[in-house]
Amino acid sequence: MNREVIVACDFRDREEAFSFLDRFTEEKPFVKIGMELFYSGGPAIVREIKARGHRIFLDLKLHDIPNTVYKSMLRLAELDVDMVNVHAAGTSEMMRAARRALDEKGSRALLLAVTQLTSTTEEVMQRELWIGHSMEDTVRHYAQNAAQAGCDGVVCSPLEAGLVKEACGSSFCTVTPGIRFESDEKGDQKRVTTPAMARRLGSDHIVIGRSITGAKDPVEAYRRAVREFKEGEQ
Ligand code: C5P
Repeated sequence: MNREVIVACDFRDREEAFSFLDRFTEEKPFVKIGMELFYSGGPAIVREIKARGHRIFLDLKLHDIPNTVYKSMLRLAELDVDMVNVHAAGTSEMMRAARRALDEKGSRALLLAVTQLTSTTEEVMQRELWIGHSMEDTVRHYAQNAAQAGCDGVVCSPLEAGLVKEACGSSFCTVTPGIRFESDEKGDQKRVTTPAMARRLGSDHIVIGRSITGAKDPVEAYRRAVREFKEGEQ
């Protein structure tokens, strides 16, 4: 898959999502459907967005006992999306259960594992989650677990894309949220970079939400992200 700019469609409902997507008359962005939109629109919204010709990353971050994840992933596989994900913190057994479900369904979806959320700092990870290692070592370890469990890649910060590739090989996919244009507010995100920097750091695909959805001209913001990330414009 070529480098992709994936737009996080974090909208409250179908109406908001389509009034955003309708602005794109020339391009069909790869879209990410997360919990908010999925919980309001359900599988129907996934089918509808897909029918309009968008590729889809269904970002539901499954994290439960292996049997529940296995059975849930069987259902998600039926939606025939391009990417799905789980939390690496759910254990290797859980990730293998997700892999098994996709394989049994003959799914072509890339299975990604979230390493550490890009809204988490190293300090909070150590103090609150009680993980007594550096962010880099933790992300590397979770990525290695994910690779061994049969995942196709991880969701991580662009700041960690290089170390993931080093540990898991260049074909192991890195999908990186935590992207902001130079002048944007970070919001709740902590481990952030620009699209141009994500390209330099070796991200395969970037995920951008508010810097596009909240822009005055979202289509222009999308095009700017594409120019920076895919074509290397500064
Ligand atoms: O608006 P913003 O660009 O911060 O949106 C980032 C998107 O990526 C959100 O939908 C968020 O749920 C998702 N995400 C993330 N960090 C992760 C995994 C997913 O920000 N590690």
